[in-house]
Amino acid sequence: MYKRIILPLLFRFDAETIHHTVTTLLKFALSIPGASFLCRKFYVLEDKRLARTVFGLTFPNPVGMAAGFDKNAELVSELSDLGFGFVEIGTVTPRPQPGNPRPRLFRLKADGGLINRMGFNNKGVAPAAERLRQFARNRNGNPVIVGGNIGKNKDTPNEHALDDYLINFRELFDAVDYFVVNVSSPNTPGLRDLQEREPLTKLLAALQQENHQRPTPKPILLKIAPDLTNGQLDDIIAIVSETQIAGVIATNTTISRAGLRTEPTIVDQIGAGGVSGQPLRNRATEVIRYLHQKSGGAFPIIGVGGITTAEDAQEKLKAGASLVQVYTSFIYEGPGLAKRINQQLLQDL
Ligand code: FNR
Repeated sequence: MYKRIILPLLFRFDAETIHHTVTTLLKFALSIPGASFLCRKFYVLEDKRLARTVFGLTFPNPVGMAAGFDKNAELVSELSDLGFGFVEIGTVTPRPQPGNPRPRLFRLKADGGLINRMGFNNKGVAPAAERLRQFARNRNGNPVIVGGNIGKNKDTPNEHALDDYLINFRELFDAVDYFVVNVSSPNTPGLRDLQEREPLTKLLAALQQENHQRPTPKPILLKIAPDLTNGQLDDIIAIVSETQIAGVIATNTTISRAGLRTEPTIVDQIGAGGVSGQPLRNRATEVIRYLHQKSGGAFPIIGVGGITTAEDAQEKLKAGASLVQVYTSFIYEGPGLAKRINQQLLQDL
């Protein structure tokens, strides 16, 4: 029903407007007494065999919502009611910022993909942290794991990027289960330069120092771009080992336009941004496989990029991922996605 009736209707409107409309309706619907309970009955697959313990946290199932869908930590409860085992909020920045001018989110229907140049539009870290604390107070035993994906404000120069990451880290520390350092978005000018060996080592070492001042440090992961060379991936492996961070999320969106089925003139008209969804699938898997094999499985990897089916999820898990995330296919496949993937993963056991 979603693909035949709802999707064609939704796709008649601007992609970002629809995102806001649908999430607002979802929030409203699930605030009706009893609705969340019913939704969970329908969409959540509760089975102990799906649980995974990774970097010290127990995930109720291995399928998560990737960063960018719930930038302001407003939908954790709702996404968990739709069967996701974990939700990564953000990317948040210390100060609120509007992001790039609209339109900035585009569908590549022929490819099962999206191009976005959102540019970290978000309401700032402090209100996100407050909403997560509120969620924690009312969670009623909900086992969903919450990740906090952190970035820098657009107008913060790279020399001061650490200050921004530290502000986010301190603000979110008691509100999330794990952290993700995002230096891989293509939509904040200069951000990806922080993936180079020296600045990245400094950034992660400083965050780890702050982390280890706490009685119970939190897992810190690094999210990387799919556009890194093998040499840069070797650096990442060395940096993870040197800074002893908990793992890597591979991958963010790609700046590559190779292999798209969408007409080149349309792709050109869309302009700058990161491609997500099916066109990213193979490259994201390659990056996961390379990191896993080259490091000898030294650290956990969360696999993300073009996962639509349980087979796609298995591909990432077999390549070395311990958990997976989705974003783009949720738009194309609808609310039953996490359950469908989990159901098949169970059958494959
Ligand atoms: C993203 N993604 C993203 N990643 C991130 O670390 N911080 C962010 O703020 C965002 N924002 C964002 C917005 C939009 C509209 C999209 C489509 C994606 C990247 C996302 O988390 C994921 O890494 C990629 O989209 C690849 O996964 P899928 O979409 O192919 O399943």
